[in-house]
Amino acid sequence: MDYTQIREEIKERLDIVQYISNYVNLTKKGNNFSGICPFHAENTPSFTVSPQKNMFHCFGCGVGGDIFTFTMKMDGINYFDAINKLAKQAGIHVDISETNKTKNSQYTEILNIQRTAMDFFINNLKNTSNALEYLKKRGLDDNTIERFGVGYAVEHWDMLYKHIRTKGYTQSAISGCGLFAAKQHGFYDTFRSRITFPIFNTHSEPIAFGGRLTGEGSPKYLNSPETAVFKKKNVLYGLNMAKDTIFKANYIIIVEGYMDTLMCHQYGITNAVAPLGTALTDSHVQIIKRYTKNLVVIFDGDRAGINAAKRALAIIYAHGLEAKVLSLPTGDDPDSFLRKNGLNKFLELLNQSLDFIDFMLQIAGKTTENIEAIYTIINNISDKILKSKLTTTLAERAGISESIIRENVKKPTKYGKIATMPKSWTGPSEEEYLLMLSLNYPECFKQIKINLSLDEFDNPLVKKSFNKLYENSLPSFDALSDYLSETELACLTAHINNPLINPAIDDDELAKTVSDCINKIKRKRVELELRKKIQSTTDEKILCGYVEELMTKKRQMLKG
Ligand code: GTP
Ligand code: MN
Repeated sequence: MDYTQIREEIKERLDIVQYISNYVNLTKKGNNFSGICPFHAENTPSFTVSPQKNMFHCFGCGVGGDIFTFTMKMDGINYFDAINKLAKQAGIHVDISETNKTKNSQYTEILNIQRTAMDFFINNLKNTSNALEYLKKRGLDDNTIERFGVGYAVEHWDMLYKHIRTKGYTQSAISGCGLFAAKQHGFYDTFRSRITFPIFNTHSEPIAFGGRLTGEGSPKYLNSPETAVFKKKNVLYGLNMAKDTIFKANYIIIVEGYMDTLMCHQYGITNAVAPLGTALTDSHVQIIKRYTKNLVVIFDGDRAGINAAKRALAIIYAHGLEAKVLSLPTGDDPDSFLRKNGLNKFLELLNQSLDFIDFMLQIAGKTTENIEAIYTIINNISDKILKSKLTTTLAERAGISESIIRENVKKPTKYGKIATMPKSWTGPSEEEYLLMLSLNYPECFKQIKINLSLDEFDNPLVKKSFNKLYENSLPSFDALSDYLSETELACLTAHINNPLINPAIDDDELAKTVSDCINKIKRKRVELELRKKIQSTTDEKILCGYVEELMTKKRQMLKG
């Protein structure tokens, strides 16, 4: 089925600016709207929405597209789900599951397989007394087990596989669902002899599983591999059950594991979620942002826990969210703590959880280094009010004046990490790199404008872009996105959207990187001219001279 018509109709009925402003604070700038990009951490708005083109584009991280692309990225859903969602909002009736028989049916099939598997595991659990005993021993009550769909995968090579085979799923969906691994003579079950925890999306559809051994052994936990329906970084375990409370309570509790989440919910702390055995990432924070701006992160009181907390705080604040830290006594996790000490003791700790600044001051004191570290995180916040509030708090608590904190702290890098141009350059060309730099670091624009004239650019699209940018004294995203066509913008995006050059350069390095690029571009140009001359020269002596010159240039380039 061709969705062109439905897509067009949706686009016509939904206002992209209005839609995106549900997620991003947009301000009008010329013909466009701009704001802080929801897809990467940034201070200055490089995310623009063009109502005329019905497109959005971020010059910082390179993402762009239409309302469908936005929805897919923002909600972490696939193309068909995005169409379904937006069609609903636009009041258009479209039943994708009925109409699409190819790609989408595989997606739906994989979802259905997860549901079938979940029911199968739940049923197994009822008949496996030692698994039930294990769960009792861990303190999970029947209600929790049921609500979270906890089940059991028996000790058998292909019991689930045989069961799924009877249900008429296509082989490609079965191979792609993550529950089976291929072996010489067919398939065997990924989860065997394990308690199974279905991992749900926010619509409470099972999309994958976590499995825990009931005895000793390794690995203790196993997760489904990534599939068409399961992208680990987009999932927080328990969020489907927690989201209502998170909304109401206006904060979220981040714990570490499956059992921690289950136990929190069992004890009535129903705003707890956990990443799937990884540290908290950018994507997690972006998901959380849709529900609340306040987090409590729970960590072990040990060194590893403290370091994990610090990393999480940097990410959380970079996105303009706020967090408190609850450190548990060493050796305890929320699960064991709740079972040993009960809800009230837990709530007491929760009440005493430290805000970000107190936590940082407590772990490393009022040393210059630590204050620098704290201010680096604060200075990275784009929300000016929050930034100023935290600076004042830091000054008060550290007993130092705000101005000294501001002055004394070395100007931090924009994104908190430093990425230099790799030595063996395989990414975008120097020209493309310069274009990206000038859009992300307006302060380097002048250096480029003074040193490179338009005809020194080789790439037509880069030349065209600089042609527009050079009209003004500062580079303007809006001017560029108005000036270039959709295809050109997309093309540019494809070339400059390279993780290697994710803009993260500190100020000292910026000027040097820019001048390196400029020099390389100039040398390349000279080399090109020489090659042309060599080709059109017949006089051997002059030719030798050119070749000599070319070799010298090449050597210089290798050195530079
Ligand atoms: P219990 O021992 O059942 O209480 O689990 P826990 O959640 O307390 O375990 P732990 O603190 O060791 O791990 C926290 C989380 O990391 C788990 O919930 C899993 O998501 C993940 N994890 C732990 N061990 C493994 C492992 O061996 N493999 C994988 N893939 N993930 C693991
Ligand atoms: Mn545990």
